[in-house]
Amino acid sequence: MLIHSATQLLTLSPFGDASRGGPQRGRDLGSLGILKNGAVLVRDEKIVAVGQTAELRAAHPGEPSLDVSGCVVMPGFVDPHTHLIWAGDRAAEFEMRLEGAKYLDILAAGGGIISTVRATRTASIETLIAQTRPRLLRMFATGTTTAEAKTGYGLQTATELRLLKALLSLDDEGPLELAITFLGAHAIAPEYTLAGAGKDDPQGYTGLICETMLPIVQQWWQTHAPRLPLPFVDVFCENKAFNLAQSRRILEKAKALGFPLKIHADEFDNIGGASLAVELEAVSADHLVKTSPLDIAALGKSETVAVSLPCTPFGLAERDYTPAQEILKAGGILALATDCNPGTAWCESMQFAIALACRYLKLTPAQAIAAATINAAHAIRRADTVGSLEPGKQADLLVLSVPDYRHLGYRFGTNLVKQVIKRGRVYSVDVGYYRTA
Ligand code: NIG
Ligand code: FE
Repeated sequence: MLIHSATQLLTLSPFGDASRGGPQRGRDLGSLGILKNGAVLVRDEKIVAVGQTAELRAAHPGEPSLDVSGCVVMPGFVDPHTHLIWAGDRAAEFEMRLEGAKYLDILAAGGGIISTVRATRTASIETLIAQTRPRLLRMFATGTTTAEAKTGYGLQTATELRLLKALLSLDDEGPLELAITFLGAHAIAPEYTLAGAGKDDPQGYTGLICETMLPIVQQWWQTHAPRLPLPFVDVFCENKAFNLAQSRRILEKAKALGFPLKIHADEFDNIGGASLAVELEAVSADHLVKTSPLDIAALGKSETVAVSLPCTPFGLAERDYTPAQEILKAGGILALATDCNPGTAWCESMQFAIALACRYLKLTPAQAIAAATINAAHAIRRADTVGSLEPGKQADLLVLSVPDYRHLGYRFGTNLVKQVIKRGRVYSVDVGYYRTA
């Protein structure tokens, strides 16, 4: 199939650039590699050629074609941080927070993440899949073609394995592809807290993760998903969750077992999680709101991708966002994600994350797009297959119903995606107008 006549084709692969395919680091962020009147030749789920419409049409005369004139064509969004799978909702807590309750205090009182844990533990795998699928489809319809998805609402071995199994099954079902993360260290399990069991024993739960859960997950993965690389292991490094020493213990153990690493750092307080991520060569450090100049300097010199989640401060109605300009100045690799979760940011749309990033991280639309595609692919180690339009990569593309890429960021609250092409298959979104019978 020849997709042709795109008003702007964003390759995210600047031609002649030595860093082609690599992440866009620091101030180099935002090279879209735009072709006017561009075309993409797709065969067997993959991109075969990218170029000018006239050239590719002449070279492939009999090819079935998709005319996308008037539209922007770009790589599908990669959402590198979501808590996609959970049961129930926290609408009542949203109201409590509007009335003044604080997120971490609700958690310490046995609510927050723990209230979702209660709902998730009692849900069957069928219920979990049924409640998660519509979120996944909303992500797909708004242009996300690959997403990271974390466990973390089980906090006990059996439920965490059920979440892994449900995520593998959703990945298998498609059309959205998932990169899976084990987040047994999302909160201290209620069996080890004052609110849950009348004893405060974070060390006990940290030990359970290190000595029981991680080895079991490693074994389990080898029998249930032998062809996939091991999942990421992530930790919520924060006061009232896992302190720096506990986070280090979990991540060091995970690393020794061969898991690639991620971390939730500096969402509410600066306790050193970002520098720990750099030291342990984590693939990404995420949130990064209260990040110190020292941590920013460390990120800037590292390969650890800095993943910003602007929907989270927005969802919590907080004032501070990721110091993105400082991270770019330091030379860091910046990516964007939704953080889709029931507590702080129930948002499936990377378009909305981009709109926030333009306003509160002061990114240009071009920078935000690069952070949501090629750099996001690096944040989940999928840059060899997705994140840019280059021959050999998967044919994961978006057709936007706008003639200029800057409509992304500029506009918000509606869906600019007209068609999603996933592994060469065209899905119509048709949002924005009605059809009568
Ligand atoms: O990324 N910070 C921890 N995890 C999520 C929130 C999860 C929840 O509240 O359910 C986050 O913001
Ligand atoms: Fe998160």
